[in-house]
Amino acid sequence: MKNLSAVILAAGEGTRMSSDYPKILHKLGSKPMLGHVLETVNCLEIRNIFVITGYKSELVEKYVGDKAKCIQQKKLLGTADAVWQIKDEPSLNKKDTHLLVIYGDTPLITNSTLERLIKKHFDDNADCTFLTAKLKDPTSYGRILRNESGRIVKIVEEQEADVFQKAIEEVNVGVYVFKVNVLFESIKLIKPENKKKEYYLTDAIETLHKKGLKIAFVETQDYNEIVGVNSRIGMANAYEVLRLRIIKQTIAAGVTVLDPKTTFIDEKVNIGKDTVIYPFTIIERNVDIGKNCEIGPFCRIRSGCRIADDVSIGNFVEINRTQVGKKTRLKHQTYIGDTIIGEGVNIGAGTIVANFDGKNKHQTIIESRAFIGTGTILVAPVKIGKSAITGAGSVVTKNKDVPDRTIVVGVPAKILRKNKG
Ligand code: UD1
Ligand code: MG
Repeated sequence: MKNLSAVILAAGEGTRMSSDYPKILHKLGSKPMLGHVLETVNCLEIRNIFVITGYKSELVEKYVGDKAKCIQQKKLLGTADAVWQIKDEPSLNKKDTHLLVIYGDTPLITNSTLERLIKKHFDDNADCTFLTAKLKDPTSYGRILRNESGRIVKIVEEQEADVFQKAIEEVNVGVYVFKVNVLFESIKLIKPENKKKEYYLTDAIETLHKKGLKIAFVETQDYNEIVGVNSRIGMANAYEVLRLRIIKQTIAAGVTVLDPKTTFIDEKVNIGKDTVIYPFTIIERNVDIGKNCEIGPFCRIRSGCRIADDVSIGNFVEINRTQVGKKTRLKHQTYIGDTIIGEGVNIGAGTIVANFDGKNKHQTIIESRAFIGTGTILVAPVKIGKSAITGAGSVVTKNKDVPDRTIVVGVPAKILRKNKG
């Protein structure tokens, strides 16, 4: 295993977000931006992961938990100062240690790009290897300056760039691998001589060049993955990239998504082959859907749902923490929460499971081949037996379980008769 550690810079306030919360804790899909970076870094062969906290550090530390070691930057003096906070970490003081530096506000970087960057760094035996991209609109990124022979000599930040430099399309993405001793030696020389009076990590590049040390780079062609989120507009753009990335993966796995523009699928969702997702559908994190299902239009499948094969879930249906058995149909205007539904069940239009009594949530069981009549209300906890039937508009009250093959009607629901088995 290479001697590589990682540091994620996450101390900034993110003033451009106009928020009471640290920028990197804003959610992109189902988890904060920082969570995306942590997860990606975690997939690499990394010895130690450090997170630099600063603005509202207690909130960031709480989120990070034991996923990484948090170190606080007391004053937010810039990205070089942020990295400086880990200079005394014992695990970094060994010879031939390397450090991946990544910003917490670049949540869409992919694992494969980081692997490419790390490989280049070690293959080239470079002192620093960093990620670049060429953008038609490079506004707000650090621009890469090269000399006549094409060597990288410096990174100049937007605020310091002159008109010619502003026209440079090659930018710094903000992901670097450094030899640790070289990194800290060059940070020592960085001065806050810029408009923001900050210690810019990017100034280390000029020092490396002047010392004749080896600077390598990897260019990414995928502009989407480098989006640095600095504002809420940036968040919305990044979310759109993430959403389309997931939809493409879903389609590639054999699912039909009829209208990608209006379909929202979170991470950690598995959908089986030949299932069709109709427009205006939201599927939250941690959901399994089987093969040959029809989902939507206009429906919301919330976290924790497990849906078997050949299920039909139609318009204006919301299901939450619910299991749905094979060939079951929930086609119209229904809410089902905390329920286990068997196979071949028909849930009539307008069925509501009242799973919350104001204090606690309770479970409902609807066994196989039950037929829930239009407009039924099931007050949890309650069980509807196999092949049982509820009449239209009936209210099955809590703990008044309906036995197998029994028909109940009315408010509160009473037994009408029992069908023969
Ligand atoms: C930075 C780069 C720029 C690059 C861009 C890519 C520098 C000086 N500039 O600019 O070249 O093109 O990212 O997105 O590095 N942070 C701290 N402590 C601080 C200051 C910042 O931890 O004192 C953290 C922030 O929380 C953030 C990251 O460092 O996650 C980057 O800071 P930010 O202010 O967003 O830098 P950019 O202006 O985007
Ligand atoms: Mg930024």
